[in-house]
Amino acid sequence: MSVTTTTSQPAVYNDSVVRWFAIASVIYGVVGMLVGVIIAAQLTWPELNMGIEWLSYGRLRPLHTNAVIFAFGGCVLFATSYYVVQRTCHTRLFMNKLAWFTFWGYNLVLVLAVITLPLGITSGKEYAELEWPIDILLTVVWVAYAIVFFGTVGIRKVRHIYVANWFFGAYIIAVALLHIVNSAAIPVSMTKSYSAYAGVQDAMVQWWYGHNAVGFFLTAAFLGMMYYFIPKQAERPVYSYRLSIVHFWALIFTYMWAGPHHLHYTALPDWTQSVGMVFSLILLAPSWGGMINGIMTLSGAWHKLRDDPILRFLIVSLSFYGMSTFEGPMMSIKTVNALSHYTDWTVGHVHSGALGWVGLVSMGSLYYLIPRLFGQKKMYSVPAIELHFWVATIGIVLYIAAMWIAGVMQGLMWRSVNPDGSLTYTFVESVKATFPFYVIRLLGGVLYLGGMVVMLWNVIMTARQGRIVDVPVASVNPAHA
Ligand code: HEM
Ligand code: HEM
Repeated sequence: MSVTTTTSQPAVYNDSVVRWFAIASVIYGVVGMLVGVIIAAQLTWPELNMGIEWLSYGRLRPLHTNAVIFAFGGCVLFATSYYVVQRTCHTRLFMNKLAWFTFWGYNLVLVLAVITLPLGITSGKEYAELEWPIDILLTVVWVAYAIVFFGTVGIRKVRHIYVANWFFGAYIIAVALLHIVNSAAIPVSMTKSYSAYAGVQDAMVQWWYGHNAVGFFLTAAFLGMMYYFIPKQAERPVYSYRLSIVHFWALIFTYMWAGPHHLHYTALPDWTQSVGMVFSLILLAPSWGGMINGIMTLSGAWHKLRDDPILRFLIVSLSFYGMSTFEGPMMSIKTVNALSHYTDWTVGHVHSGALGWVGLVSMGSLYYLIPRLFGQKKMYSVPAIELHFWVATIGIVLYIAAMWIAGVMQGLMWRSVNPDGSLTYTFVESVKATFPFYVIRLLGGVLYLGGMVVMLWNVIMTARQGRIVDVPVASVNPAHA
């Protein structure tokens, strides 16, 4: 790689905005997972709704998904993309004030979500529930984000654009496109709007959005993190740079077409469903290519996994990524989907990706980042990281194993028929049979949340003993950037 760089730049990296996003993400993580635990408890014991409408399951569920995906996940992505783009481009963030605007603007969006969702103000589209004035604010913030990110790439001091930035860049562009198209709506008041699309077109646009929210928000961007933080923590170069480029183009091209697998056996034309299924099956290849590239980065240094809990977070996250991207294509096969759809199998799949991949890769990257943002070499307590890793991993296994068993059981019970053609089980019998699995899922969730609370404590202690140091722009060795 040819590198041209300045050696004596007086500027320092803008790490303040990174620091604030990083801290916010840990706090939002605790809040979002707490709401997850509450709704898991409500599914087990519905009386926990307590008859209060804004504490009811239907209101808290979108609060959970928005809090974990957009508040926790979003703030991790802002923090890491701003950190990585500065380090790999050897320059300070473009337009400092605009970067701060993205912090306050994005947090305003999140606060508005916390207020409006429990009040039942929703557009009713999954993962796009926020009403139109908040959507417009989010659009403005996102455009500012794009200007800061691509502006920084534009003023880079190295010729090369490191692959992590390609993934971050694709996520920023794709999310803008998805958000604007799917949120198009006709307002009838400040708090109510109706989708610009109707019927099955509306469903298709929604799941084109929904699936690509998974593909670009929960996957491509976190892969950007993977491509920076695994080599950094392992102190080895990426296994294959060539594979990372093939991985990038294959992944972003394929994801765009797979959305119809959410609409199998619906009014959507049959050929469209088949296109979704075929692209989902193809998606296995780039997904596993990326996973292998990440894991193999450790080749020759496997021993590091034994005593580096941060690396363990990062590598185990990739195993869950591999698992969920094998399971997803299987579930997209129409005959398999006939069993899995509407059951807790889907919820198990979601959380093997969400807790296992998104959660663990975020935690590993934050454990790398946070001490550096507070002028420290490592977190306040390394045993606490170790504890977090084990508690979270056991929590995930309990959660997803319970949901897989429950899901397959529900699917089989619902389709089971007697010789005379009548149903073998009533629906309520399947609900009763699911009860023990909901208890196990709740236990898994409590463990996972417990790990996150330990992390919050560790972050607070690291911040308290740390100090804020300005890192000069040229201080990073280009060969390692
Ligand atoms: C303590 C951890 C967590 C617990 C206990 C938990 C619990 C739950 C529960 C009970 C549901 C509703 C399931 C249903 O409708 O039947 C749910 C949905 C969901 N959660 Fe979580 N969750 C946790 C963490 C996370 C994280 C970290 C993410 C993402 C990064 C996430 C993403 C989602 C999504 C996307 C859904 C909607 C799934 C669907 O529509 O099929 N969750 N969660
Ligand atoms: C090759 C990759 C993947 C494919 C082909 C895939 C495929 C699928 C399929 C077929 C469904 C069930 C649709 C239904 O029956 O309604 C589904 C649901 C879901 N998947 Fe995946 N998946 C993949 C990876 C992931 C990953 C890595 C995550 C999380 C980080 C994820 C998150 C979700 C979510 C949130 C849903 C539930 C959507 C909803 O109904 O609300 N998927 N996926």
